[in-house]
Amino acid sequence: PVASLRLSTGADIPAIGFGTFADVIVPGQMQAAVLAALDAGYRHLDCAWYYKNESEVGSALQSWLTANPNVKRKDIFVTTKVWTHLLEPDDVEWSLNNSLQNLKVDYVDTFLIHWPFASERTDDREVKLGADGKYIIKKELTANLAPAWRAMESLQLSGKTRSIGVSNYDIHHLEALLAYAEIRPAINQVEIHPYFPNTELIEFCKMNDILPVAYSPLGSQGQVKDLEGLEDSKVSVLTDQTLAEIAKMKSGSVAQICIAWGTKRGYPVLPKSSNPERLRANFEVLELSETEFEQVNGIANRLGEKDGKGLRFVNPKGMFGLDNWKS
Ligand code: A2P
Repeated sequence: PVASLRLSTGADIPAIGFGTFADVIVPGQMQAAVLAALDAGYRHLDCAWYYKNESEVGSALQSWLTANPNVKRKDIFVTTKVWTHLLEPDDVEWSLNNSLQNLKVDYVDTFLIHWPFASERTDDREVKLGADGKYIIKKELTANLAPAWRAMESLQLSGKTRSIGVSNYDIHHLEALLAYAEIRPAINQVEIHPYFPNTELIEFCKMNDILPVAYSPLGSQGQVKDLEGLEDSKVSVLTDQTLAEIAKMKSGSVAQICIAWGTKRGYPVLPKSSNPERLRANFEVLELSETEFEQVNGIANRLGEKDGKGLRFVNPKGMFGLDNWKS
């Protein structure tokens, strides 16, 4: 089995998880992908209300567990997240209940606040957009998410989630949270890949006993269009020359190098693929030598960015129309 990392709660989280976000929902495809992932040995599923496919993921999980009675629910680490429009305390609870129902489980292993801002919802709990098509930000709740965090804490106490955490929090968001948290976040799930190593944030998390978890570890293929002022072709991690050379030397793929680099840095990574062969290959762990590891570390600094921090593909400003987003 793949290695695990330990959360501040004492629970273990497998170092490679299966991401279930899909840009385009094709009926039946996620179910097939989750079955293939569980068959390949993945024991960590990353889900969210926002992905709109938790009932498919849940059906796959349920039927796979029935067909594989020596693996139990407790052997699989399940994550879900609450979206920005459901951050009023009652809605936070509703969101987890909704995810549990769709996932067909009676608890999740971790429940995360998906983004550090709150937005308006419709009466039937969908995202409410303004006339300009942008999210309508709830300014007061966004400025102080403590009521949402209190709701998260009581959900952990209720046992419906074994741990709680956040996603897409920068250092200043975490500092604000740590000032009022009675139960501290176990996880901060953020974008990390060789073009966006996110080193400062990772160090802050580790100092505070928060485990970083890497989404888009392969460089976020589907999201390149969100980058401001750069052509798609310039920013593909999977076709990076240096990574390709290392991959060739090791008879592996660039994706495997990205995954190996992440696990060597000491956090779980969440590659996603709907292709059974690629998802199997992504689960085969390669070991990087120190030299190879340093070569990958050097990539972000080669990108020509003034601050050497690299390129963040998932850009909340562009995605949600947040003019005042401060990273
Ligand atoms: P596909 O589903 O066709 O395999 P990220 O996790 O960084 O957001 O990237 C996910 C994207 O990377 C998906 O579009 C997925 O496409 C693709 N992908 C996943 N594994 C591999 C791989 N081993 N080689 C190339 N592309 C991959």
